[in-house]
This record gives sequence, C-alpha cells and structure tokens, in this order.
Amino acid sequence: MKIVGTYRIRPNHTIYIMNLESKRIYLIGYMGSGKSSAMKHLAKYLSWDAFDLDQLFEERYKISVQDFFHKYDEAAFRKLESQLLKETAQLENAVIATGGGTPCFYDNMDWMNANGTTVFLKVSTKTAVVRLLNSKKKRPLLEGKSEEQLYEYVEKHYGERMPFYEKAHITVKGENLDVSKILS
Ligand code: S3P
Repeated sequence: MKIVGTYRIRPNHTIYIMNLESKRIYLIGYMGSGKSSAMKHLAKYLSWDAFDLDQLFEERYKISVQDFFHKYDEAAFRKLESQLLKETAQLENAVIATGGGTPCFYDNMDWMNANGTTVFLKVSTKTAVVRLLNSKKKRPLLEGKSEEQLYEYVEKHYGERMPFYEKAHITVKGENLDVSKILS
C-alpha cells in the first residue's frame, strides 16, 4: 500500500495516511486508547468530517450504549453496531472512531480494511487502565470493577482482542497524544 502523506501529532507519533482515495479512516483500539481524541484532531487537520460510532448508535436508537446493554444484551448491540458500521460506506472524507469491540465482531475488521484505511491506536494495558479510571464515559463492560479487577480484566480482554487490532493497515503508539491540544 502506498503512503501518500504523514500526519505528525507529536514527535514519535506519526500517523501515516495511506491511500487517501479510500476517503475513510477508521480509528480502532481498546477502550481508553484515545480514539475519540485522535478522531477530532485528525479530522480537523484533514478538514474531514468526524464521526464516532457510539454516538451514531445513540443518535439512531435514542438510547445510550450503556442503557442498551442493560435493556437488551451485548449480542444485540453487536448486530446493530455492525449494521451501522456498514452504513459508513456512504461517508466520504470521514474520520470514524469505532468502539473498542467493533473490529472483533462479525466481519467488521476485514470490512473496514476493504472500505477505508484502518489505524490502530496501540496503548499499554497500564495506559488504558489509567485513562479508563479517569474517564467520564460510561462503559457497560467495565461497570462495578475495582481498580485491581479492572487491570486484570483489561489485560486479559485486550490480549484477546489484539489479533483483530493487529490486522489494521497502520499501528501507531497511542501514548503520546496531546489531549489538551486536541481538544482546544
Ligand atoms: C466497547 C467500547 C465502547 C462501546 C461499548 C463497548 C467495547 O467504546 O462501544 O461500551 O466492547 O470495547 P469505546 O472504545 O469508545 O469506549
């Protein structure tokens, strides 16, 4: 695949823009990897539109992801999430932040690879846990876990998901994202 440009967020943190003809960049990675922040920053830089799959879900179904998990179950969420993902094929010049589990269900990962450029924001388990402990976003899969339980859960769960994330076209270290700069 051809590299047609690079996007440097900070020293040692460069996103390689591959094959921009794809018109879509899918940001993937575990919960707390910084997908939403990177989405905003990258969309601004490229003058592309930014979309967050969880937000699209909540707008479409008029229910928070957390309430949906409680009212129905994860399997029902994954089905609708996959359908919604496929609808993003209609978007052009779009940076799309996916949910942490999106690449790991159905054919979603292969589909994203075929329909856009995928970027895996890779962070350590420790970074993910620290960010998750400080995050305001409600995450049904992590509910009610103590700090210790959270670390154990993330370590195992992230490891199980890694083979999916590693199918991304591009992997970047997610540690050096300057969130304050991104949000300004
Ligand atoms: C999930 C991650 C969440 C959201 C849902 C499930 C997951 O998105 O889609 O709670 O399975 O990892 P974020 O990665 O933005 O937290």
